[in-house]
Amino acid sequence: MKKTNLVLGTVAAAVCMASGAAYADKLTYYCSAQEDWCQLMARSFEEATGIDVNMTRKSSGETFAQVRAEASNPKGDIWWGGTGDPHLQAAEEGLTEVYVSPMRDQLHPWAIAQAESAGNRTIGIYSGALGYGYNTELVAANNLPEPACWEDLLKPAYKGHVQMANPNSSGTAYTTLASMVQIFGEDDGFDFMKGLHVNINQYTKSGSAPIKAAGRGENTIGIVFMHDAVKQAVAGFPIKVVAPCEGTGYEIGSMSIIAGARNMDEAKRFYDWALSAEAQNLALQVNAFQVPSNMGAETSPSAPDMSMIKLIDYDFAKYGSSDERKRLLKKWDDEVSTLPQ
Ligand code: F6P
Repeated sequence: MKKTNLVLGTVAAAVCMASGAAYADKLTYYCSAQEDWCQLMARSFEEATGIDVNMTRKSSGETFAQVRAEASNPKGDIWWGGTGDPHLQAAEEGLTEVYVSPMRDQLHPWAIAQAESAGNRTIGIYSGALGYGYNTELVAANNLPEPACWEDLLKPAYKGHVQMANPNSSGTAYTTLASMVQIFGEDDGFDFMKGLHVNINQYTKSGSAPIKAAGRGENTIGIVFMHDAVKQAVAGFPIKVVAPCEGTGYEIGSMSIIAGARNMDEAKRFYDWALSAEAQNLALQVNAFQVPSNMGAETSPSAPDMSMIKLIDYDFAKYGSSDERKRLLKKWDDEVSTLPQ
């Protein structure tokens, strides 16, 4: 039986080679944006190129950990989406490949700056501001005040009503931690995280999970990127989106080719395609309300207007550096996550 299969396989290969047909090109694609967008990007790339895509969606910190764990025998080819900090850390650790795309001229300066700060091992694909959203019906039903600032989230009334992700797995939550350190200073920022911990009902794995839970009425306040809260509101859930009064951090969602990728040509094709206005406009089909990096791509009218939000001058070089990200995560693990609630 085995012998027959071997013979048939050899014959098939011979026919394939004789007819000049190549085996299907393929791409292993790690995605750290929202699941529906990841799926749409995979399907659309397959349709545009005929390349078979094998996609896995994991949060930013999780994907970083996977890429690092696989470094001696890389399984992924391209990592698209997720917050920029772990992409920068991957670049610094040599886990991702240097590539300068011919599409670069079409991008906003902030996307190119991300590439240049990482020796061209990553690039910006979208941006979005951090904030939170709350379920207006649950706030009213529980007689809670309407929060407007970061500091408001520390009020005892919100005990058990706030959810955020774990900053080790989630880029959203790491952006939250790094933003609090930048807004309040290191000591007060950690005091803020400790005070917040008392009110947290659950640390989720994925960054957008807390606002999805709020949409379903299973949680009151979710600390997320504002575009993820808008997505719930646009879907018809009773979610109010907040740009916190003290100011807030933001992300440059990024893309990187994995060093030693087995399908390097396909990875570069995906990279160039993903920077096009046409590919970035796919976001509109799945209500992904980030700001696209291609200057010719459309930004949805529902997207949070970044020019109206008080943004801090987020220090990507510092908070995306390997030492700083490791240090802050360890400190959060040691000093915040272990505290009683
Ligand atoms: O849901 C989309 C999104 O918020 C992106 O804007 C962001 O880059 C990514 O998810 C972060 O996801 P996580 O926090 O799960 O790493």
